[in-house]
Amino acid sequence: MAKVFLTRKIPDIGIELLKNHHEVSIFSDKQNPNKQQLIKHAQNADAIVSLLSDEIDEEIINKCKNLKVIANYAVGYDNINLKAAQENNIVVTNTPGVLTEATADLTWTLLLATARRIVESDKFVRNLKFDGWGPELLLGRKTHGKTLGIIGFGRIGQAVAKRAQGFNMDILYNKRTPLDQAEESKFGVKFAKLDKLLKDSDFITINASLNDSTYHLIDKKEFEKMKDNAIVVNTGRGPIINENALVEALKQKEIFGAGLDVYEEEPKVHPELLELDNVILTPHTGSATTYARNEMAEMVAKDIIAVLEGNEPVNRVV
Ligand code: DGY
Repeated sequence: MAKVFLTRKIPDIGIELLKNHHEVSIFSDKQNPNKQQLIKHAQNADAIVSLLSDEIDEEIINKCKNLKVIANYAVGYDNINLKAAQENNIVVTNTPGVLTEATADLTWTLLLATARRIVESDKFVRNLKFDGWGPELLLGRKTHGKTLGIIGFGRIGQAVAKRAQGFNMDILYNKRTPLDQAEESKFGVKFAKLDKLLKDSDFITINASLNDSTYHLIDKKEFEKMKDNAIVVNTGRGPIINENALVEALKQKEIFGAGLDVYEEEPKVHPELLELDNVILTPHTGSATTYARNEMAEMVAKDIIAVLEGNEPVNRVV
């Protein structure tokens, strides 16, 4: 029996599958291991199930001599040093597809909640400030017929676009390789260079993955290009936005507001964001539906079993 190490408990469906084939150990159901703990527990493992919050760097990979597969319990895999994995002939897998709709839903939840000031409104009522209907009480932004700019147009960005059609929006997108015309018509979207997208969009959603070209893609000068009433939503990765620049843009009311599911130094959140009313914050719960998390658990288990049996995993990254 091979040894499978999980840095954190995942839904039972995945654990049971793994236990039917291999010896399974789980670090904890409450916290992830730090680097030294990870090395200690994983150094004899044949497979690791990692979370997006586990940084699997070169040192860890080099010290885990038996490792054959790292199955990341996420679609994003910027937490894993892919080069080191390849050099050590370690397969890396992820969990695409099954979390697309959940993450697109949360993108839209944040977009609408920011536009209609839902958290402020909820606090207002709970604080017993609602003393009658007001013509100018808690006015928000119109979404219908407005322009949505989607940065990153993979599965999740495309699912965000589909939802925007119900709001009759003009949809711009930006990605490294533009779609062909037939695909653009299918989604009802138009490619825009980043500058144009920033200038023309009323709503900007970030659905890109984190890599060298997207790190701090949205910084001070990008906020300056946005409309005064723009709303920015990030369900991709925190470091795509320079959080200091975002705080300034929100404080100076250079934009209307922001909805964030991800942060530059997770789980830390910029202290000033916590003080602002024009930002809504969720704890990286883009894929947090029971359905998506169960599917992800099954996916990582099946891919580990495949690799350890010498077969090709379905969701191979490298
Ligand atoms: C992932 O799985 O990479 C996403 O961050 C889900 O929210």
